[in-house]
Amino acid sequence: MAVAEVVVVGSCMTDLVSLTRRLPKPGETIHGQKFFTGYGGKGANQCVQAARLGAKTSMICKVGKDSFGYDYIENFKKNGIPIEFVGQAEDAATGAASIIVNGEGANLLLDIGDLKRAAHVITRAKVMVCQLEVTPSVSLEALKMAHTGGVKTLFNPAPALTDLDPQFYTYSDIICCNESEAEILTGIAVGNPEDAGRVGLALLERGCKTAVVTLGPEGCVVVSTKELIPKHVPTKKVTAVDTTGAGDSFVGALAFYLAYYPALPLEEMLRKANFIATISVQATGTQSSFPYRKDLPQDLF
Ligand SMILES: Nc1ncnc2c1ncn2[C@@H]1O[C@H](COP(=O)(O)OP(=O)(O)OP(=O)(O)O)[C@@H](O)[C@H]1O
Ligand SMILES: *[C@@H]1O[C@H](CO)[C@@H](O)[C@H](O)[C@H]1NC(C)=O
Repeated sequence: MAVAEVVVVGSCMTDLVSLTRRLPKPGETIHGQKFFTGYGGKGANQCVQAARLGAKTSMICKVGKDSFGYDYIENFKKNGIPIEFVGQAEDAATGAASIIVNGEGANLLLDIGDLKRAAHVITRAKVMVCQLEVTPSVSLEALKMAHTGGVKTLFNPAPALTDLDPQFYTYSDIICCNESEAEILTGIAVGNPEDAGRVGLALLERGCKTAVVTLGPEGCVVVSTKELIPKHVPTKKVTAVDTTGAGDSFVGALAFYLAYYPALPLEEMLRKANFIATISVQATGTQSSFPYRKDLPQDLF
């Protein structure tokens, strides 16, 4: 079995996208202009972006034994992601997300037993990435397994929880969140890089070694225990057409650089992750907007 350098423990969602002229009222049926499905889920998105940059990955997740589940497995294969630890639950549907319904589906069935079965892959990786679209105690266990095994942990607390277990901070080498998640976690509203720096320092006090706050068109801010001075890493000005999944493109790219270019200064990795996520906002869709290595400037590698 090939070793994975980037392991992701997280969610898969089939996005059910209905384009309508307006949002329905509760219980109202309105006819859409267009309907399509897309591949989503923060965990899978991040894994796909890392794989498209050339990372050897492994995805640990759970889908249903339904057509969406089989389709998702095909999507992983197309992206070169091994499916050894993509479980298929008999008794739950593949997670789905749409404007009006939101079900976590099989994602919540990913359990500690699934992690134990993948332990040899988790502990041999360079980087383990997780989020909060699976059961939080499962994400926490993944962080513990990786951290204890000397694997760098990248935690994306999304969607954010107000009462996050404090152990999430101590087992995270890097915590990466966006402005709204930053506010939920710390109570500090983020409107500019200075606010993001204050959030970063507050997160370090809780025990993580490095905090990154993404700021949409403003790029990101990073602060770490090595030097308690927040640094703003700006990104290029572009015309965004669809920012959905930008944060996942960013996290997936950061995981790639942490695994493959560990000697690169962190700010340089963040400049490159900004560059890649900024490309993703210039195309529509989530995974469909994530760039491939062959289409990127070669000085990124
Ligand atoms: N309008 C934009 N212009 C340029 N780059 C952008 C823009 N929006 C996002 N990015 C890039 O994507 C990264 C992540 O964006 P953001 O902070 O909006 O994450 P997010 O809110 O998690 O994304 P999502 O829209 O998927 O929820 C930014 O750090 C930046 O590099
Ligand atoms: C941050 O990410 C969450 C998903 O966890 C999303 O709902 C929210 O809109 C994002 N916030 C910003 C400011 O982009």
